[in-house]
Amino acid sequence: MKFIITFTFFIAFHIGAFSQSFNSAHFIDSLLLQMTIEEKAGQLSLFTNDWNDSGDMIQDQYVELIKDGKVGGIFNAHGAAYTRKLQEMAVNESRLGIPLLFGFDVIHGHHTIFPVPLAESSSWDLEAIERSARIAALEASATGLHWVFAPMCDISRDPRWGRVMEGAGEDPFLASAIAAARVKGFQGEGFVQPDAVAACVKHFAAYGAPQAGREYHSVDMSELTLREFYLPPYKAAVDAGAFTVMSAFNDLNGIPATANSFLLQKILRDEWNFKGFVVSDFTSVLELLNHGTAENAAQATLTALSSGTEMDMQAFFYLQNIPHLVNKGFLEKSVLDAAVRKVLQLKYELGLFNDPFRFCSVEREQKMLMKDEFLEASRDMARKSMVLLKNDASLLPLSKRLRKVALIGPLADSRQDMLGGWYAAGDGKKAVSLLDGLKSKLPDCEITFTKGCDIVAQDEQDFDTAIKLASEAELVILALGEPAWMTGEATSRTSLDLPGMQQELADKILSLGKNVVVVLFNGRPLTINKLDQNASTILEAWYPGTMAGSALADVLFGEYNPSGKLPMTFPRSVGQIPVFYNTKNTGRPWDGATNTTSRYIDSPNEPLYCFGFGLSYTSFIYGDLSVDKNQIIDNELVTATIELTNTGKFAGEEIVQLYIRDLVSSVSPALKNLKGFQKIMLQPGETKLVQFKIGRNDLAFYNKDLKRIAEPGEFEIMIGTDSMKLKTVRIRLL
Ligand code: BGC
Repeated sequence: MKFIITFTFFIAFHIGAFSQSFNSAHFIDSLLLQMTIEEKAGQLSLFTNDWNDSGDMIQDQYVELIKDGKVGGIFNAHGAAYTRKLQEMAVNESRLGIPLLFGFDVIHGHHTIFPVPLAESSSWDLEAIERSARIAALEASATGLHWVFAPMCDISRDPRWGRVMEGAGEDPFLASAIAAARVKGFQGEGFVQPDAVAACVKHFAAYGAPQAGREYHSVDMSELTLREFYLPPYKAAVDAGAFTVMSAFNDLNGIPATANSFLLQKILRDEWNFKGFVVSDFTSVLELLNHGTAENAAQATLTALSSGTEMDMQAFFYLQNIPHLVNKGFLEKSVLDAAVRKVLQLKYELGLFNDPFRFCSVEREQKMLMKDEFLEASRDMARKSMVLLKNDASLLPLSKRLRKVALIGPLADSRQDMLGGWYAAGDGKKAVSLLDGLKSKLPDCEITFTKGCDIVAQDEQDFDTAIKLASEAELVILALGEPAWMTGEATSRTSLDLPGMQQELADKILSLGKNVVVVLFNGRPLTINKLDQNASTILEAWYPGTMAGSALADVLFGEYNPSGKLPMTFPRSVGQIPVFYNTKNTGRPWDGATNTTSRYIDSPNEPLYCFGFGLSYTSFIYGDLSVDKNQIIDNELVTATIELTNTGKFAGEEIVQLYIRDLVSSVSPALKNLKGFQKIMLQPGETKLVQFKIGRNDLAFYNKDLKRIAEPGEFEIMIGTDSMKLKTVRIRLL
């Protein structure tokens, strides 16, 4: 601790005399002068706590390393008392007393769990998403954490890939807005606040496009596609001030992302001016050997570090190899120092050199976790995240006069599954299941319940009970989907059908002719054609988080009118994948008749539910679309206006979407790209004018020289309720 005290004095003494950046540079330079190469390698090493729910178990080997000053950060450790204990080891027992960074996968809440990110993204509600991240940061920082491994900014067009659950879907415009909102939420007003945590933008880059949707698989894509569709959300997060970036597991066009100087240097540093540090993904420095791009640990270390990955997560390679690489002259000391400087900079900005324990207050922790207002915010976010896919018989909203309801399905009374994957310190026992939620909403109604079948096994044993309960009830709610473990990392699937015997169960129940509402819990688009054909009513609930059942009851009984829209296309079959809305026209677009045009012989081209789709209990009518001028000169703006009327019986919100198509350009353009959206609340019978301003920047794209430009010519401006039902008008860029 000696060192810290000396430097705390140094800082205090100089306050007011020098700028913060001068202070930090001077402080860090002085610290670097005192560090051995081993200690520097230690600052670039991140190790995991043993993963358990309370986050308070660590192996002896790490304790020794901490005391030796050979650890930069620990992840998966949380809890104010426990992180204090580890921090004390680092600060009091290591030679220089450099504090540890504590990181964790706080992806959609920490103790209060919010809907999974794909669900939150269905709300298209940036304020609510920012608030969700802010609450996660309030809780995380109160349990000793400084750093969260989020937001995940990977665009994906492939629901076979299980991690689509963690992302914002397929569209770069929506995902960029969401990425920025999440960073703002995590980092708050800046690190001077004791409740701001550093964000980590991951997984850089293009991890969401693995070949055949198989986890960790190679990514091979043109630089045009990369820049136009995949990079924008990472950039938005960096522009929003994210302090760290995580390199991805995959190789991109043959070069593993962890040792990819095109990504980590040219794009991230040179073009985007990123000043923070890059951490590898879990053992991805070691995996350079498996990728076949490094022969041994020393080479992997050298190539990863000199390509721009400053911190090694869990491979031990940096710790073990940096010293001899420097001593033998293979690694320049200046490269090592530059990397260490960035890690120390974050610790400095977080105020850890002044007070290493500022995040470790047990008192604050006790007050801060799962507060009523956090639970309420989670419930609200869950309601906003749900997407009404079908309501043909207007069964929803349900009447509170119902007296006998059968709740059937393997997920109907699951609390743990409601949290989805990556639930941080969330406790499934504290979650509200659908059964819990219905019971408290309808205390006077008899709610019968059976699972009907196992969620994954081929087992019909409970079918008879399910049929009996369904036959005796006024209404059936069928809760189907994927178990939470089936989405997230390492959960790629080749079939996106409902697992187990759930479809067969649904067939049996639907054939009874009763009123049936299907509620889906899942972390990715599924192939649910049969359900869509046979069920009149389908509500996509995703994994709604701690308050799942309460939020669902609010929606089912009309206390909240669903407004969510899909951030990702639902395919009809796995064979259509990748299927996404911003596709190109091709030289032979399907014309509805000619065999030799771009189509399948056994399936329509169109998906089951398109990007942006989602219904409401009320109905909205779009009027004519007009523009105030039909030409843009220089930096002028065009205003597009459309009239929106609520023609139904319920107050409701509609997410009005703006798409633009470049009709002719030097690079074959997408048929449409989302360029704006607004969430509009309307009372029954109410009309509002919705306006979007469109400028040159909205018409720009990457040309063949990879320059972002807008070319003169004609553009279609499209506004509507989803990516397919749109009103159109043309403008010209001069
Ligand atoms: C995941 C990352 C995560 C890291 C640490 C990896 O397996 O890909 O997203 O942040 O583990 O838990």
